Amino acid sequence: MRFPAEPFRIKVVEKIRRTTRDEREQLLERAGLNVFMIPSDAIYVDLLTDSGTGAMSDQQWAGLMIGDESYAGSKSFFKFEAAVRDVTGFPYVTPTHQGRVAENLLFSTICAAGKTIIANTHFDTTRANVEMNNAEALDLPVKEAYDPQLGKLWKGNMDLEKLEANLKANRDNIPLVVMTVTNNSAGGQPVSMENIRGASRLCKQFGVPFFIDCARFAENCWFIHEFEAGYKGKTIIEIARELFSHADGCWMSAKKDALVNIGGFIAMNDIELARRLPQKLILIEGFPTYGGLAGRDLEAVAIGLYEGMEPEYLQYRTAQVRYLGDMLWDAGIAIVRPVGGHAVFIDAKAFCDHISPEQFPGVALTVALYREAGIRGVEIGSLMFGHLDPATGKHVAPHLELVRLAIPRRVYTTAHMTYVAESITEMYKDRHKIKPLRLTYEAPVLRHFTARLEEII
Ligand code: F0G
Repeated sequence: MRFPAEPFRIKVVEKIRRTTRDEREQLLERAGLNVFMIPSDAIYVDLLTDSGTGAMSDQQWAGLMIGDESYAGSKSFFKFEAAVRDVTGFPYVTPTHQGRVAENLLFSTICAAGKTIIANTHFDTTRANVEMNNAEALDLPVKEAYDPQLGKLWKGNMDLEKLEANLKANRDNIPLVVMTVTNNSAGGQPVSMENIRGASRLCKQFGVPFFIDCARFAENCWFIHEFEAGYKGKTIIEIARELFSHADGCWMSAKKDALVNIGGFIAMNDIELARRLPQKLILIEGFPTYGGLAGRDLEAVAIGLYEGMEPEYLQYRTAQVRYLGDMLWDAGIAIVRPVGGHAVFIDAKAFCDHISPEQFPGVALTVALYREAGIRGVEIGSLMFGHLDPATGKHVAPHLELVRLAIPRRVYTTAHMTYVAESITEMYKDRHKIKPLRLTYEAPVLRHFTARLEEII
């Protein structure tokens, strides 16, 4: 079977609207060709992100009703804390309203000028939080991660030789090493347990804390279950517990694998560090038993964490993403291979091989996707990660120019995926009509959210 039927039936529906090409053309102009600026009711299939866009289950909605909204000591917090402890094993749990707040709390506490945070690949908010605190964010992915079409497993892994060399040379200036599972910025590729074990061993040897950015840990554990020797007979929660047992702590944007629309946490073994974080939390988010969330949100996370690990769900979830990827690949469109856990990444350098990196081939493709088919994807390339070299004034491009089609969880059906694949296949025939772009406005940090661009005619 190419695609297993959804392991749920649909109880509530939300209308989506087809717009005309003219309408989309006008909206693009108003948006400065930035799809972040398009109102969502003018989008037919929204694949901008899988973050906070999932559909909650009837159990989670029922959980909202019993949310305890007490300011301090809410029983929903204790349920949330128990769930996080049960899955991760870390005793000190701090809720945050989303992942980047956990990053802010952590990095504003441990970073300073001259310090380096090492990751397999930092996600953009992770990198920004490190850099805003004057430290360096160093990515050490395996070299296979830079070869988008190489269909090898575990391309999310960290290069352990480079990790060891960096730890040897600079141990005192490395306050933390983080493994992002799955590796979102490198194509949503999974990390093997072997690699996690290896990174953990090195960090222990050099006395450096090792954390997991576990936004998509359940999808990562599913890949371990399916493809890593010795894990077929284990349950997802057993694999997750082993994964976390190799680390000193983790943070999570619960908006992904915990199947909620808002929520996150940071959890760890170190009581000293755990005591320092809430000082800022109280200042910017709220009391440490709600961390910027409502009690009902904590309930939804506590339930969603377990639903996100159900094997029927994970099998359907990864198969749906692979179904879209396979349709594109079969039509001759270059995508990052193998297909990762939450998204299909189109190789925009190959799709728009007539557009150079400084003319934003990935953004140009997102514009075309919206204009032609009302589909919203996101660029992960020169706009998100490129910059100008201050010395030469030349554009420094990242290794990959990608467009991510992130699939919201339990939201779109297979027919929607077929629509997306067929629309892109149609566009591919006329791909050389896609125009290069130039920036007309950029903000100093995370510029891709608010940038404005125009077509170079
Ligand atoms: N870490 C990873 C790996 C992420 O993918 C994200 C968010 C964050 C941290 C930050 O979490 O959004 O809850 O503050 N990723 C979203 C995405 C935004 O579209 O991939 P957040």
